[in-house]
Amino acid sequence: MHDFDQVIDRRNGDSLKWNKYAGRDVLPLWVADMDFAAPPPVIKALQARVAEGCLGYPLPWPSLSDAVLGYLQREYAWSVEPEWLVWLPGLVTGLNAACRAVDGDVITATPIYPPFLSAPGLAGKTLAAVPLRLEGDRWSWDFAALEAALTPETRLLLLCHPHNPVGRVWDADELAKLAEFCTRHDLTICSDEIHCGLILEPGLSHTPFAALSPEIAERCITLMAPSKTYNIPGLGCSFAVIPNAALRRRFAGVMRGIVPDANVLGLVAAEAAYRDGEDWRLALIEVLRRNRDRVQSAVAAMRGLSMTPIEATYLAWIDARGLGVDDPAAFFEAAGVGLSSGRDFGLPGWVRLNFGCPATTLDSALERMTAACSAQSSDVGHL
Ligand SMILES: Cc1ncc(COP(=O)(O)O)c(C=O)c1O
Repeated sequence: MHDFDQVIDRRNGDSLKWNKYAGRDVLPLWVADMDFAAPPPVIKALQARVAEGCLGYPLPWPSLSDAVLGYLQREYAWSVEPEWLVWLPGLVTGLNAACRAVDGDVITATPIYPPFLSAPGLAGKTLAAVPLRLEGDRWSWDFAALEAALTPETRLLLLCHPHNPVGRVWDADELAKLAEFCTRHDLTICSDEIHCGLILEPGLSHTPFAALSPEIAERCITLMAPSKTYNIPGLGCSFAVIPNAALRRRFAGVMRGIVPDANVLGLVAAEAAYRDGEDWRLALIEVLRRNRDRVQSAVAAMRGLSMTPIEATYLAWIDARGLGVDDPAAFFEAAGVGLSSGRDFGLPGWVRLNFGCPATTLDSALERMTAACSAQSSDVGHL
């Protein structure tokens, strides 16, 4: 049995998530790392590697690629060749490298994980940000708007799959339409699949975009990492899968001299996670489903808030426009809960809540939010 109820005290340590609120009574439910210990096989592999003492430059080794390729084959029936892998010190590095490796401008859909919004500009490219469509409680692609936003210079689609922050697992029909769109307009796709191990909705599954067809694989840079699923983001390790040799050379070329190699402990952890982490991952999914349900029912009862169903990730995307406050993230921070502001994702009025934490932490945060919403609605009522 894995213990996901244990509260690990991350205050006064090195945690970005907790130190943001050092000295304040704010429960941090913002940046995407979870308050759970990493899987035991990962910890054991790291301890064994550290015990060797010598921590020199690593050269990715065959059993590491075997573990990754075996996982991709087992989970997604996706056959990947070892030479298609490019190891990276972080997935955001991959988003930025993709924007530099592909000539031309960039298109993506909002709301979106903030580095999607910054990477094109950092590479001197123009970004067309097309809003996703919200119909009822379902987020989907607006294909007409996507067509309309395209310019003759657009060459790269940045795809988040599953999507952070709206939590959608794009379905077969949506993926087929995106593939057709990219083929017709001769676009390269950079598909960020960092959350693909975290499908919560029973009956849904992940299909790597590149696995749709050999033609799509040729125009695809897939970015993956063990960091979200196995909760090791502090180890800085991810990888790109790029079947097209010319595209892979360009991608590796823009990194040369700037991007360091992935570090040895990150690689050791990746091998252990992909080879031996499945029991832990399945137990985690159960915990996250329960937490998701807690958040969904608590938010449904909070005046001024609503949320859309979360199919994947440990992130809830909450509509706070009904609260009647200018800055909902600041409002909840003042009430003792640190959330991510929708403004950073291109959609003010919304907040993102990370429910990857023990139930007791989550319940305390939800209680604080409930109290703040009730107080706000009675204030508004008295105006
Ligand atoms: C969609 C997405 N991509 C990338 C990252 C970050 O990746 P890394 O820390 O490896 O740069 C995150 C982290 O939250 C994410 O949600």
